[in-house]
Amino acid sequence: MDLPIQNLAVVGAGAMGSGIAALFASRGINVVLIDPVAGALERASAVIERQVGVYAPDAIQETLRRIRMEAGLEAACGSDLVIEAVPEKLELKRDIFARLDTLCPAHTIFATNTSGLSINAIAEAVTRRDRFVGTHFFTPADVIPLVEVVRCDQTTEATVTRVMDFLRLGGKKPVLVRQDIPGFIANRIQHALAREAISLLEKGVASAEDIDEVVKWSLGIRLALTGPLAQRDMNGIDVHYAIASYLYQDLENRTTPSDLLREKAESGQIGAKAGQGFYTWPAEDRDRVLREKSAALAELVAWLGDKKLS
Ligand SMILES: NC(=O)c1ccc[n+]([C@@H]2O[C@H](COP(=O)([O-])OP(=O)(O)OC[C@H]3O[C@@H](n4cnc5c(N)ncnc54)[C@H](O)[C@@H]3O)[C@@H](O)[C@H]2O)c1
Repeated sequence: MDLPIQNLAVVGAGAMGSGIAALFASRGINVVLIDPVAGALERASAVIERQVGVYAPDAIQETLRRIRMEAGLEAACGSDLVIEAVPEKLELKRDIFARLDTLCPAHTIFATNTSGLSINAIAEAVTRRDRFVGTHFFTPADVIPLVEVVRCDQTTEATVTRVMDFLRLGGKKPVLVRQDIPGFIANRIQHALAREAISLLEKGVASAEDIDEVVKWSLGIRLALTGPLAQRDMNGIDVHYAIASYLYQDLENRTTPSDLLREKAESGQIGAKAGQGFYTWPAEDRDRVLREKSAALAELVAWLGDKKLS
């Protein structure tokens, strides 16, 4: 019988990898954080220190001590679980898993944090497809509770159970996605919402600030307590049906990114990390805003933990 997962390797020490490492190390798990790119591990240390300072300020040094930082993939060979969090490129992920497959013992489970690439397509790179799964965390990975667990065609029940148990140990709320569908559940819904929001901005219906204000203080505040389906029950499916019958035909339904989105991406206006996106992000404010947002999210998560509305 497989023992519980005790040693974790995280490959890719960027925004997601450092958050995942921080979370599990702060809960007593030994973590190896692997990244070969110059400067990446130093940046990760700073992010981990900032993040753990938000929810476990007394445990910063202990957490950092539990994280071994390494440049080479060989460091993953003593792990029961490897979570990959490298850039969203299919060939890069497949190449890393193919190498891990030769380095790691047979019992090691492989998980990819892809945002929405096919789990089956990534798993093709390995022979242990029964021990391969998607674990889609949300940013900040150490604060947002949900993780989508996505099986590939060969993932066994035992693998799903072990990974979900491990995620619960880290205080996560894992949900099983039964089909390997692009974008899984959350990114399909997030992109449907963002496509409409960007379209409204492009049409000049309102400013970015006002579109965000509408969502935050109406739908957003409700969604913190009630998912979209339970919310439809509360509003009345008859009302929803009547509105859907005339509104769907007018909603944004383009199948390629809009001109505004493409222009932002191509001109480097890619958001907070570049100082400019839909908003301007002065460098001197950026870290403080991200830190305050993480702290507020951690408080909100703790408060919501006591509510039982959905
Ligand atoms: N940022 C998000 O909101 C978010 C949310 C959920 C899932 N994801 C997914 O998580 C993954 C990582 O995203 P991120 O935002 O952390 O990206 P990131 O760019 O912040 O980090 C990627 C890290 O991978 C490292 N890397 C590059 N090549 C590598 C290699 N060959 N071996 C090991 N490490 C390598 C880079 O140095 C970098 O530190 C992507 O698949 C992304 O789609 C991102």
